[in-house]
Amino acid sequence: MTTHTITLLPSGHQFQCSEDESILKAGLASGLFMPYSCRSGVCSTCRGTIKEGKVDFGNVHPNYLSEDDKRVGKALLCSAKPLGDCSIEVRELDPAEAFPVRKLPCRVLQLERLAPDVMLMTVGLPANEPAVFKAGQYVDFVLKDGTRRSYSIANVPVTDGVRQVELHVRLVPGGRFTEHVFNSMKLRETMQLEMPLGSFYWREQSDKPMIMLASGTGFAPIKSIIEYSIERGNKRPITLYWGGRTRACIYMAALAEKWAAEHEHITFVPVLSNATPQCNWTGRTGFVHKAVMEDFPDMSGHEVYACGAPIVVESARHDFAAQCGLPEAEFYADSFITEAERHKAAA
Ligand SMILES: Cc1cc2nc3c(=O)[nH]c(=O)nc-3n(C[C@H](O)[C@H](O)[C@H](O)COP(=O)(O)OP(=O)(O)OC[C@H]3O[C@@H](n4cnc5c(N)ncnc54)[C@H](O)[C@@H]3O)c2cc1C
Ligand code: FES
Repeated sequence: MTTHTITLLPSGHQFQCSEDESILKAGLASGLFMPYSCRSGVCSTCRGTIKEGKVDFGNVHPNYLSEDDKRVGKALLCSAKPLGDCSIEVRELDPAEAFPVRKLPCRVLQLERLAPDVMLMTVGLPANEPAVFKAGQYVDFVLKDGTRRSYSIANVPVTDGVRQVELHVRLVPGGRFTEHVFNSMKLRETMQLEMPLGSFYWREQSDKPMIMLASGTGFAPIKSIIEYSIERGNKRPITLYWGGRTRACIYMAALAEKWAAEHEHITFVPVLSNATPQCNWTGRTGFVHKAVMEDFPDMSGHEVYACGAPIVVESARHDFAAQCGLPEAEFYADSFITEAERHKAAA
């Protein structure tokens, strides 16, 4: 297969990419750190601009890459393949920040229901292969047929590597992996995982106040980031919004309340969208991203970390920039895209 030279701008970094490989995959394989999350043409995190050369834009739904976008050279680099040498403008991350991605066997050590539809799953890694990651990143389970399911890491990174990984798994009715987790998974079951993945991680060097927006199990990577920032003695203001349908969806509210009680710089705002009388709720209600906008009409000096349900993350991405002046580069997100969204995007 013919290979082509890809040059990233403005860094000038170069790598080879064959015509049947995505530009993102080849760039990451060459040791560069390009932004990505879903790797399936849905979340826009990997968006770049083709400055020179031609690409096959891939099978991306027009909702995520329109004909107008293509005309001005916009491309989703997880889907785009080169048709010749290309120069591409992309918001690259420092390759020194990237940990090598490793495939590891793991064993299920703990399965604990945190809510009727949320399972805390802890998996153990081989004793001689502790794993490093950045607070906020995710793992992929590689299933027997080679398909993957992604889950954000909820525990805190350790310099010389962790031996266990904590995950918060929400049951998706009809979902292949989560139905197994909730209905037939046994302790000590072994799986293959790949980690660490994604460019959603805490930017420790910044001094901007942080808005954290979690929807459902989107709390998992936010938990890792907040606990790690506390451990590091960081005092930047953090306002955590956690949205769910009912009280049960805010499944670790006591922990978030404890952070807020013990640390002056942390504020916790739970928001319910479908509170029932059983919730006995007197707190904020409505869409969680709207609650953020009510409290922060001007986000121009903030950083936002958003995670969870795709509709919440995408609404926040759009509305925070359009209505609250949040710079595009200050919005970090992992959208918990499932096969349902991937299928819709490919249709
Ligand atoms: C970066 C990232 C991080 C994530 N982190 C987390 C996390 O921390 N916690 C968490 O709970 N989830 C997370 N997710 C979501 C997770 O990866 C899974 O997608 C989710 O758990 C569902 O997996 P499943 O195998 O149970 O469902 P799937 O088998 O993938 O099915 C999901 C839904 O799609 C439907 N479906 C399946 N195939 C098709 C098809 N061909 N056409 C139409 N519909 C179809 C199913 O009926 C079901 O309703 C994350 C996703 C991403 C991308
Ligand atoms: S990583 Fe390319 S669209 Fe999500």
